[in-house]
Amino acid sequence: MLSRDQVLEVLSTLQEPMSGLLFTDLQFIRDIMVKEDSVALTLICLTDDENVRNILKNNVTALLQEAGVQEVHVRMRLASAAEKESLPSSEQKSTKETEPADDEVLVKGHAAGMESHELLDPKSGVTFIAIASGKGGVGKSTVTVNLAVALARQGKKVGIIDADIYGFSIPDMMGIEDAPVLIDGVIEPVERFGVKVMSMGFFVQENSPVIWRGPMLGKMLRQFFSDVNWGDLDYMILDLPPGTGDVALDVHQMIPQSKEIIVTTPHATAAFVAARAGAMAIQTNHELLGVIENMAYYECSACGTKDYVFGRGGGGRLAESLHTELLAQIPLGSPDNHISEPDFSPSVYKENTEIGKIYDEVAKHLITG
Ligand SMILES: Nc1ncnc2c1ncn2[C@@H]1O[C@H](COP(=O)(O)OP(=O)(O)OP(=O)(O)O)[C@@H](O)[C@H]1O
Ligand SMILES: [Mg+2]
Repeated sequence: MLSRDQVLEVLSTLQEPMSGLLFTDLQFIRDIMVKEDSVALTLICLTDDENVRNILKNNVTALLQEAGVQEVHVRMRLASAAEKESLPSSEQKSTKETEPADDEVLVKGHAAGMESHELLDPKSGVTFIAIASGKGGVGKSTVTVNLAVALARQGKKVGIIDADIYGFSIPDMMGIEDAPVLIDGVIEPVERFGVKVMSMGFFVQENSPVIWRGPMLGKMLRQFFSDVNWGDLDYMILDLPPGTGDVALDVHQMIPQSKEIIVTTPHATAAFVAARAGAMAIQTNHELLGVIENMAYYECSACGTKDYVFGRGGGGRLAESLHTELLAQIPLGSPDNHISEPDFSPSVYKENTEIGKIYDEVAKHLITG
């Protein structure tokens, strides 16, 4: 059983995200009640943003569980006007704080030996591939997941960052049920089909919509690089949000060395819209690896005839206009696996299937260059 002081000690690295100050220094951890192996406490927050609160709650729970507490109850309440006024000015910040508050949202501190941002160092040897599109629903996330899994099947060490902070979908698509764990202040990514995965979806409870204000988005994203123990990686695949908005731009600026694949459907207008994403890649000097035309056709399983239900030729024309290659044309088709299978995943095409093989070819092509 922990004492009240030990609880505070366990939570001494926890940062209040709005001010960058430590909760313990702010004396914003209140009403600590310890009963056998359960702890209840109140956390005073400077924001009523549900998502920030959920993340804090998860962090408090993770830290206490790591210290052996079985049951954790966290209540949240908004700081009163008086409590807000009593905040120290930035000059009086805690001496414990050695880094700018800028980088800290999820957790404070790095494990010994883990260099922050080492992954983003162009010399890290990691090949970044951002998966982009002009509009939503064309299959970026499906391509992200399957390309990553196919690269892993070729023996590569692969990570996925679900950079679609608002519309995260990777955990569900891969059938991930585990959450990442926090070890010494570093987040361990979840591994599935040999791919390490990090997604906002792990930190948002019950599918509540994510409403991050602009600067928070960039911070979250940076933490996916700096506070996650990725280990050695050959490839990092980034699922971008649709279009050419803020997050896509953040990613471009954060990882100038990233390469890019544009996903489009075969329809001429879809390809036209996708060209904007391609133009953005070119403007930001991201090397275009090529275009993937998804939902390219429907192949009749009985007669083998190809039906071009969404039009034809968009991918090829887009690749041409961007002076890059058409990497693949992926037909319509759902992965055939079943909910009862232990490796059930709604969006992963298995190795020996028609579409699985197409992804394997793309992976081999990317590896050999
Ligand atoms: N080749 C395909 N055949 C059949 N269904 C597909 C194919 N590719 C994707 N889908 C389905 O289409 C839908 C959209 O795909 P996905 O979520 O990958 O697109 P997205 O571009 O990431 O969308 P968003 O912009 O919403 O993030 C999903 O339900 C997915 O399962
Ligand atoms: Mg998506």
